[in-house]
Amino acid sequence: MKKYEKVFQKDYETWYGENEAYRKQVAEDPDRLAFHLMPETGWMNDPNGLCQFKGEYHIYYQYPPFEPTGELKLWGHYKTKDLVTYEQCQPVLFPDSDEDAHGVYSGSAFCENGKINFFYTGNVKLFDRPDYDYINSGRVSNTMYVTSEDGMHFSPKKCLMTNSDYPADISAHVRDPKIIKREDGYYMVLGARDKESKGLVLVYRSDDLTNWKYHGRITTENAFGYMWECPDYFKIGDKKLLSTSVQGLEGGIWEDRNVYQSGYFEIEGDILGEYKLSEYHLWDYGFDYYAPQSFETEDGRRIHISWMGMPDCEEYSNPTIQTGWQHCFTFPREIFEKDGKICQRPIRELEEKKHLVSDVKGMLAGEGYPVYEMTISDITKNRFKVILSEKLILDYADGKFRMHFTDQDKTSVSSGRSMRYVEVEEVENLKILADTSSVEVFVNDGEYVFSTRYYPEVYKLQAEAVGAQITLSEIM
Ligand code: FRU
Repeated sequence: MKKYEKVFQKDYETWYGENEAYRKQVAEDPDRLAFHLMPETGWMNDPNGLCQFKGEYHIYYQYPPFEPTGELKLWGHYKTKDLVTYEQCQPVLFPDSDEDAHGVYSGSAFCENGKINFFYTGNVKLFDRPDYDYINSGRVSNTMYVTSEDGMHFSPKKCLMTNSDYPADISAHVRDPKIIKREDGYYMVLGARDKESKGLVLVYRSDDLTNWKYHGRITTENAFGYMWECPDYFKIGDKKLLSTSVQGLEGGIWEDRNVYQSGYFEIEGDILGEYKLSEYHLWDYGFDYYAPQSFETEDGRRIHISWMGMPDCEEYSNPTIQTGWQHCFTFPREIFEKDGKICQRPIRELEEKKHLVSDVKGMLAGEGYPVYEMTISDITKNRFKVILSEKLILDYADGKFRMHFTDQDKTSVSSGRSMRYVEVEEVENLKILADTSSVEVFVNDGEYVFSTRYYPEVYKLQAEAVGAQITLSEIM
């Protein structure tokens, strides 16, 4: 497949028929994940269109199946009844129209009137002039609309808005629509970059989900990064959160962090009227986390799923590229409030997959499992140390909880990852969710979370935490 040519469903089907050996190669990779979603072949990035509809959850995703470097964006599709056992379905949206010919980019689902309404960005790159900078010119960002009554079959695509419908001071970077319903109508938030390279969210309003009018914008007083991607807005208890993935944060604290960030602002006032944004809180302090999306389940939980990867990252990589695939999703998390703090925990459905290991000591002394959950509770005086597969260390020093690798070169277990940390006075407990090549660590009941990929040569688990309680469960 060529990067700047349309891909039709039949092109994909022909390619799929011819690539059984490719699928087998990925299926046999020992680094493939046991309970995290990953692509069958190729690359996976943002979760898209998350929803619960007619008794099933749908999880779509940015999916270039053809190669592990992520060029041609389709929407892949998984569905599940319990968020534990997934069924892989056919990709649903292909870059096959003039409005999305160079990528069916990210978007969301909004269930209303007995159907799922999908909004996404149709990406088009122009090549008719040599002087495009592809920031303010040379790129078309179409806001697209499709509906489905079963999550599998889709209505024809409709283009709702294009560059000329966005305010004049906005660059060509506008994308990732998400819908908010209010009593007086529907609102759409879109991530954007203005012509002065300030990141912001554009807000549109509609009465019928198809005709949209500019309503306003949400941003900080001083520029906070040059681009805000994947905006999301929701409430947790009394707190109102605007989540967005920010590009272009530099200097100071950001020098110790990832190239791009995902986090949220707490909102005082009304995001659609007079508002004040709090400081920006990161969703995750690890190496691999970007572009999360949330949805609300029918039983009222706010579930968050993220791409466990990092775009444009030169510092570290993933050796799975050699086998023909790259990236995965975080295990779904519930967002909740504890003592006024926003926290995250693995969804409760995981309990059904866990088997308590009775011989924790034996397990710590011997060979480990590749896939497990370990909890350490009642830690006192920050005294603990966990070593995963001899190379990945979780510990506390100089007022910081740290996740760091002993070897940091690109051919080691870390594949180039070094250290990430958060300043915290006291670490009371840890929950570690380890899959074959991923680790997610929940600190202090999920007040801070660290996600990373790693590529162990041996599975070994060492943990010291004097006086604390350690429990271990194998995840089946
Ligand atoms: C975030 C993102 C989105 C875009 C998509 C393209 O990772 O850049 O803004 O829609 O990925 O794959």
